[in-house]
Formats: sequence, C-alpha cells, structure tokens
Amino acid sequence: MSYPESHYLSPIWRDDLFKGRVAFVTGGAGTICSMQTRALVRLGADACIIGRNVEKTEKAAKDIATVRPGAKVIGIGGCDVRKVESLKEAAARCAKELGGIDFVIAGAAGNFLVSMEAMSPNAFKAVMDIDVLGTFNTIKSTMPYLLKSPDARIIYVSATFHYTGMPMQGHVAAAKASVDSLMASVALEYGPRGVTSNVISPGAIADTEGAARLLTGDAAALKHRARAIPTGRLGTVKDIDDATVYLFSSAGSHVNGHVLVVDGGSWRRQGSL
Ligand code: HXC
Repeated sequence: MSYPESHYLSPIWRDDLFKGRVAFVTGGAGTICSMQTRALVRLGADACIIGRNVEKTEKAAKDIATVRPGAKVIGIGGCDVRKVESLKEAAARCAKELGGIDFVIAGAAGNFLVSMEAMSPNAFKAVMDIDVLGTFNTIKSTMPYLLKSPDARIIYVSATFHYTGMPMQGHVAAAKASVDSLMASVALEYGPRGVTSNVISPGAIADTEGAARLLTGDAAALKHRARAIPTGRLGTVKDIDDATVYLFSSAGSHVNGHVLVVDGGSWRRQGSL
C-alpha cells in the first residue's frame, strides 16, 4: 500500500537533519523498524538494516532507498541477532561501506501469542534470546563504532506489556522488561562516553504486520480498542517515526536513560494493549 509522505512523518523536521549520519537497524525489515529507518533516510541519513530473511531484508532496503535520491541503504539478510559473530560482521560491513555508525535501533524481536500453559521452555527462551541477548549482541557489536561517532545514539524498541502484565505475552513482557533494564545500564555506562540510550515503547500500532497478525482484524473490535485508549485512537507508524527523529535529533541530545512510551497513555491503565 502506498501512502503520502505525511502518513509516515510529520512535516516539521528539516530535510537535512541527519545528513552525514549512518543508522544501523536490527529488525529493519519489520514494519516499525523499516519505517523508522525510512524516516531517518528521508531526513538525510544512510542506513544498514539487518534481518534474518534475506529476500525480505534486501527488498526493504531497496524500498527505503527510494525515499531520497542518492540515499545509500544496505540490507544484510541471513543475520541472526542471537549470534554475535554475524552481527559483528554486519556492523563492520556497515562501517566500511557507509563510513561508520552513529545511530543504532535495536529492534529485532520475537513475538507470538501463547498462554503460559501452552508455552514450552524453548518458546520462552527463543523470545528471550532474540529480544534480550539479541539487544546485548547489537550493542556489543556496534559500540566500537558508536564510540568514534561525534553524535552517537541508541534506541531500543520495547513494548508496554511489562508495565502492567499481559496475558498470552508473558515471554515478551519478561523480555521487554529486560530490554528496558539493559538500556538503563548502558545509558549510565556509556553516557559519559558520548552515547545516549533510550527506549521507545510503542503501544498498539494500527498499521503494522505484527499488529495485523497479533491483534484481531475485526473492525468493530479495533474501534472498541481505540476507544479505550486515552487519546481515542490507535497508534500509527508516524507516531513512532516522530519519536525516533526527536530522540536522534539535537533536540533529544540531553535525553538519556529514558523510556518514551508512545501509546496514547494506555500503559497507565491495567492491561495496556
Ligand atoms: C507457541 C511457538 C510459536 C507459537 C514458535 N513457538 N511459535 N510456541 N506458539 N505461535 C515455539 C516453537 O514451538 C519452539 O519451541 C520455539 O518457540 C522456537 O521456535 P522456532 O521456530 O524453532 O524458533 P525460531 O526460528 O528461533 O523462531 C522464533 C520465533 C520468531 C520467536 C517464532 O520466528 C518470531 O517471533 N517470529 C516473528 C517475528 C515478529 O513478528 N516480530 C515482530 C514483533 S512485533 P519447541 O518447544 O517446540 O522447540 C511486536 C509488536 C507486537 O512484538 C504488537 C502487538 C500488538
């Protein structure tokens, strides 16, 4: 589906805001992270996106590159964030081909709906490994390059399930709580060395593949869900893109160790999805 530019990003940002910057994005072929990357590239950055599926990742990179003439976007498929060596290779390739790494989005995540009763230990471990170990591996692999950047930032893509608890998402909630916690420690350890770390926690986002798969597609149910959100609507990728641009822009340079929840205030209620 093709949308006008205003669907993805508010028209308030300067076109060359991220000129000369390079973003490294895991989970970059998924809807949220590919749209975050698209926003950064649209505003002047070059980017490297990482994914497990080769075809999907390469296609996403090609699509993102069309948003700005001259944009360089590399898609590295076949890379599993659970394997630090494959991430190290990807980070080295990104730095070699694009000149460094300034921004990291740790977005790769596993997710499926399953009750505690039906969840196998290996299912729990799979999500913990992708989300938590994968985030750790991402930081580990990119930090040498971030430390050389004059403007180094990390965004961790989290969720809101762990602020209240969420049925069928026990594994994801446990993993995302760890991601928030890891972010805080990295913020304190690396803030003094010029690298900021912040979490973005999206609430229910209407126009993503994940939501389409995990939320009911029933229009009446979606309307009902939107009414329960304090702002009266579901989130959009644009909400996440704008939050991302803010945190990576100079306007966000003193924000470090923060969890930015972008969910219309739902997390303040019990059962935040
Ligand atoms: C129960 C499941 C399952 C399911 C996998 N498993 N899918 N259990 N229900 N639907 C179990 C398997 O049976 C196995 O356990 C274990 O998990 C590992 O599965 P594998 O397929 O071998 O693992 P792997 O290839 O590593 O894949 C892991 C995966 C991943 C976690 C299933 O492929 C995945 O999550 N893909 C979806 C990625 C995704 O959509 N990400 C976007 C997140 S968006 P056993 O015991 O059998 O060995 C997001 C926002 C959501 O999170 C917002 C919602 C509103």
